[in-house]
Amino acid sequence: MRRTDTSDHLNLYLIGFMGVGKSSVGRYVARRLDMQFIDSDHAIEEKAGMTIPAIFEQFGEAAFRKMEREFIEGGHPEKGCVVSCGGGLPIEPGMSELLLSKGVVICLFASEKTILERTSANNRRPMLNVEDPVKRARELMARRMPVYMRTGTGISTENRDLPEISEHVVRVYRSVSREFAMKQSN
Ligand code: S3P
Repeated sequence: MRRTDTSDHLNLYLIGFMGVGKSSVGRYVARRLDMQFIDSDHAIEEKAGMTIPAIFEQFGEAAFRKMEREFIEGGHPEKGCVVSCGGGLPIEPGMSELLLSKGVVICLFASEKTILERTSANNRRPMLNVEDPVKRARELMARRMPVYMRTGTGISTENRDLPEISEHVVRVYRSVSREFAMKQSN
């Protein structure tokens, strides 16, 4: 059977705080939609030839945010991708608007408890590699929440398994894509 060509589909950007499951959901959804999966952190690491913790250590957070901006502005295909975005990527001024102009944006949410459990599992995240990571995570969540709340369509991941969350994401993606296409044809 001939597969539908999805290379011209609008990009889907998954945003949300660290530990909400953007990468797992993104990979699953990309398979369901037969689109290419890209993780912004991996793309940046590949381009820089360094890990995220090393980028933060050598060049600092501001340099990393610049790399995120460059990745969104021109470092990935304009169509046909599901992009899982690092938690801080939509936060810098202008970034959430930029994402919304490029495709469908879906923000994943999880409870503070779930996020703290997941992010405490390893120390690969420089933003939380501090003396009191729980306090830091809470501060960041409070600061970022207004942007997450107003950017794209929000979906809760709490008490739902991967297939269920992904089904919901696919449904929202299809419906917002249709609206996007209608607006462009008007
Ligand atoms: C960050 C989140 C990380 C990564 C970097 C900074 C943040 O991505 O981009 O460590 O500022 O929230 P995940 O959200 O995939 O953990």
